[in-house]
Amino acid sequence: MTKKFFVSTPIYYVNDVPHIGHTCTTVVADIIARYHKLLGEEVFFLTGTDEHGAKVAEEAKKVGLSPQDFCDKVSQTFAAIWPKLNIHFDYFIRTTNPQHEKIVQELIQKIYDRGDIYKAKYEGLYCVGCERFYTEADLVDDKCPLHPNKEIQKQAENNYFFKLSKYAPLLIKAIENPTDLNHYQVSPSAKKEEILSKLKAGVGDLSISRANVPWGIPIPWDKSQTIYVWFDALINYYSALKITGKEDFWPADLHLIGKEILWFHAVIWEAMLMAAKLPVPKEVFAHNFYMIDGRKMSKSLGNVIAPQQLMDKFGPEATRYLIASSFPYDKDSDVGLQRFTEKYNADLANGLGNLVARVAKLCETKNYSPSNFESASLKIAGYHDFMQKFQVNLALEEIWKQIKALDVLINNQKPWEKADEEAQTTLTTAVGNILSIAKAVEPFLPETAAKIEKQFAGPKIKSAKPLFPRI
Ligand code: MSP
Repeated sequence: MTKKFFVSTPIYYVNDVPHIGHTCTTVVADIIARYHKLLGEEVFFLTGTDEHGAKVAEEAKKVGLSPQDFCDKVSQTFAAIWPKLNIHFDYFIRTTNPQHEKIVQELIQKIYDRGDIYKAKYEGLYCVGCERFYTEADLVDDKCPLHPNKEIQKQAENNYFFKLSKYAPLLIKAIENPTDLNHYQVSPSAKKEEILSKLKAGVGDLSISRANVPWGIPIPWDKSQTIYVWFDALINYYSALKITGKEDFWPADLHLIGKEILWFHAVIWEAMLMAAKLPVPKEVFAHNFYMIDGRKMSKSLGNVIAPQQLMDKFGPEATRYLIASSFPYDKDSDVGLQRFTEKYNADLANGLGNLVARVAKLCETKNYSPSNFESASLKIAGYHDFMQKFQVNLALEEIWKQIKALDVLINNQKPWEKADEEAQTTLTTAVGNILSIAKAVEPFLPETAAKIEKQFAGPKIKSAKPLFPRI
């Protein structure tokens, strides 16, 4: 049976339009999906939008639209931008989809019926930006650490609570013990340690309903309350499969997310699934953040970069490369237009683009036609290891080492000084290597890889337009 691979991105809030932070996760998820397809696996790649909650309702009000009209509009900007970047998701989930809403209600009802949800009075500090409660100790100068510009709201209401505390010991066991029935991986390792130490420090129960947020899914047994937006949102990963009839892709192989939402994905989600007696995902991977020229990217700082801006300047293929090569695997990564331009010129115009042009030209002048070199395989050292661990930036570095090495080899062997016959050996090596480089970059640069493969397939290899003109 073909191996199945299900990868997801977070579903993005529609209170914001797509920026390069969202693009980072979505491009990398697409690269991982394409890589697993190349391995012959059957892949399901999911992305979408998170549309309920106070934050979205507030934003809709600001622009004078009904919440649903507002969601329709912004959701579309996400759904439309990804294909322009050659991102091929298999389904785009929206949490206002009535089918999703129904599945959420069924799941919460199931957990309620099993006795893991109870009603209690709650008092807490709520940040609408994060859509979550904080304790006094979490705050920095009485403000949310992630949204210092937003007022923290003191809230006291009767809520339904999920018995998260009951699951803490089971979660610790499941993360730590690879033979546990519910084992799942939290990665990279620093993130795993972070989650384990928080779990061991003690976990309270979680308020999962709201009395005063009408823009949400009603609690099925008490319509005066709506379901907490995170409880609703996390279920997208499961509801999407039910909606598309692809339940056999559950449990997910990989939830790719940013570091700020790790607790929801590596703790709350698994506890919800255990309570509903469903298998937990196999891996949650949280990456770090892009910083723009050393600062947090934010609307108020006015330093947000939109994916369209990058595409206008560099084209979609190079944008994918620039995003993936600066992937903030386990450290924040400083990006910016200046850096991207330098990287584009060094790696794509001068690096890959130049090598391909150079070898094609040599083949043309030396009348080389490809004969019987072995079919290009993905044999670049280290490449698979890095791809399996989602270290896409390092996988690219491996490929670029090969590009440099091939350049050096050609410089040393000087095929242009040799007679046509003698030059053949060097060119066979060069063309074989270019084809294996093309295969390895395919998940990153699908159109470029196809162009290279076509150009070097013969019978006559000819020069072509530069792949990446200098900027
Ligand atoms: N709606 C929730 C997720 C629910 S998933 C069940 C949410 N949405 S969000 O629109 O705020 O998107 C957050 C995600 O966008 C991060 O987890 C990360 O994947 C990506 N990024 C946002 N800013 C980023 C950077 N500056 N750098 C890299 N990625 C970041 O949270």
